Amino acid sequence: MPDGTPVEELTLRALGPEDTKYVCKIITYGGAVRSLTVPDRNGNPVDVVLGFDTLEDYRAQDKYIGALVGRYANRVGGAEFTLNGAQYPLFANDGPNSLHGGRTGFDKRVWTVEELGGSAATLSLVSPDMDEGYPGSLEVRVTYTLSEGGLAISYRAKSDRDTVCNLTNHSYFNLSGHDSGSVEGQYIKLNASRYTPAGPGSIPTGEIAPVEGTPMDLRTAQPIGTRIGEPFGQLVMAGGYDHNWVIDKHEGTIWTAAAAWSPDTGIAMDAATTLPGVQFYAGNFLSGCPRGKGGAVYGDRHGFCLETQFFPDSPNQPGFPSCVLKAGEEYHSVTVYSFGVADCAEKL
Ligand code: GLA
Repeated sequence: MPDGTPVEELTLRALGPEDTKYVCKIITYGGAVRSLTVPDRNGNPVDVVLGFDTLEDYRAQDKYIGALVGRYANRVGGAEFTLNGAQYPLFANDGPNSLHGGRTGFDKRVWTVEELGGSAATLSLVSPDMDEGYPGSLEVRVTYTLSEGGLAISYRAKSDRDTVCNLTNHSYFNLSGHDSGSVEGQYIKLNASRYTPAGPGSIPTGEIAPVEGTPMDLRTAQPIGTRIGEPFGQLVMAGGYDHNWVIDKHEGTIWTAAAAWSPDTGIAMDAATTLPGVQFYAGNFLSGCPRGKGGAVYGDRHGFCLETQFFPDSPNQPGFPSCVLKAGEEYHSVTVYSFGVADCAEKL
């Protein structure tokens, strides 16, 4: 870093055969997942996340590629919220709204390596009181665990004052390989019968609407590109899929939010989480970042994100599940991205 702080890269290998194809690289800048290699239908390794070759490129891009996002992932409307009667102004970095933690969100910090084993690593960060306008000194610990099933990310945080907290990972997946071009031919399925429609600036209106009868209905696997260009107001406004879906819950504490599949490689992915929402972002505005790994050109829709989360603008939306973290209590969420191969989308 310009101030001399070193940035490290950690390599995780799944426990199992010595030649496991499950390998993940994490960098301490932004805690970013820099590569995630899984086997395709022929057993060949495929790197399914976008990333960069140099730290300079990570610092130059503004797409949150691979990063840990906080203190409040997604948007806070009007770059301001009220908690316990006090108003907290934030930095407006997305028109009049605050996006992904403000000017210097957690994605731009160098995280500390707390623990490192062969298949797991824990990173930590202390976000001081009033950092980016948020109250309370927040201690965050994120553990990545790689297995032959996939990558689990566990987030824990504690604050010494009441605050709001919403942590996610902003990996862009491309199940045909990070350098393979558009994901519009890859299948997506969202286990969500409702979503949160948004108004100007992608700030939710507060309504929780059924997906039924709209192109937001992705309950049956379909190629990302099939309905993304329909003249449906929400899609037109956001330039494609870039919304929060309300995950249908079932028994247990972790539920499968989404599944995706590449007909090219046969790689199938599930995203399961303890959180109530998922932002499915189709990478509509991805172009314009530096060359990716190995010189890859990342254009619009060359990767998709499944950002598990509290709903956008929850600090200002009394009808949404609460993202308030009380002083001394623990924030804990888990998201697991699982991989396998499938021979058709109907299996998702
Ligand atoms: C999120 C947002 C998108 C965009 C990306 C970053 O997914 O919802 O609108 O800002 O982050 O480029």
